[in-house]
Amino acid sequence: MKSIHEPDRTPRYFYRLARHKLHMAWRHFRIATNYYDSGLGDSAWLLHGLVRSLKPEVCVEIGSARGKSTCHIAQALRENLGGKLYAIDPHRPTSWNDAGEKNTLHALQQNLRAMGGEAYVEIIQSGSIEAARGWNRPIDMIFIDGDHSYEGVKADWELFSPHVSRFGVVVFHDTTWSIHDFDFAVREDLGVSRLLEELRADGYPLITIDRNYGVTLVQPTRGGVPLERVKTSAH
Ligand SMILES: C[S@@+](CC[C@H](N)C(=O)[O-])C[C@H]1O[C@@H](n2cnc3c(N)ncnc32)[C@H](O)[C@@H]1O
Repeated sequence: MKSIHEPDRTPRYFYRLARHKLHMAWRHFRIATNYYDSGLGDSAWLLHGLVRSLKPEVCVEIGSARGKSTCHIAQALRENLGGKLYAIDPHRPTSWNDAGEKNTLHALQQNLRAMGGEAYVEIIQSGSIEAARGWNRPIDMIFIDGDHSYEGVKADWELFSPHVSRFGVVVFHDTTWSIHDFDFAVREDLGVSRLLEELRADGYPLITIDRNYGVTLVQPTRGGVPLERVKTSAH
């Protein structure tokens, strides 16, 4: 009997695989040639890989700007053949825009169109606090990269983490500014590291990638999700 793990080795399979891989390479090229002006760097591929692995139905992004994170998540959803990203950003001047233009909506839409990800993304043009009002969808993955003040990032955590599913993941950007001497001025009001230190002390499992100003993955269950079934004694 054929094992379910035995790969298909027919010419038809290899032809379809090659066609699919070429198509994906073209999509990845389009993503790489978009203009984002973003500090996320290659850590955007961490979001892509996470979404490919997790197969989320619902992703949320707080802070899209020109869409580096948006496009990488959208591409993963496209490769998964399903799921939706709710991309929240007011697209107007805030204290937390990257350099250059502040109304990033047009650039975001253009970048999404160029890589063919529009069908997987719903743009919510508002601040995260307004977007959280009446939120009722379970979230499988949320990327928090909006208001980086302690109060702002704490509000995002408090408003959205209760909606995250059991094995869902919360990802924060800009988490290692406090432990590095970057060669440009660190803003005094950056509060992401402070919040994450509090979460760590509270027993939430954290994994930090020390690249691109820090990307931290948090499982929003204190002590982590138990991986062994609790045995109950039979009566
Ligand atoms: C650092 S940029 C995001 C970069 C983007 N994630 C990327 O991959 O390039 C921060 C963005 O957060 C947005 N922002 C600021 N405050 C926000 C809030 N309260 N809710 C949602 N977005 C916010 C800004 O408009 C800005 O576009």
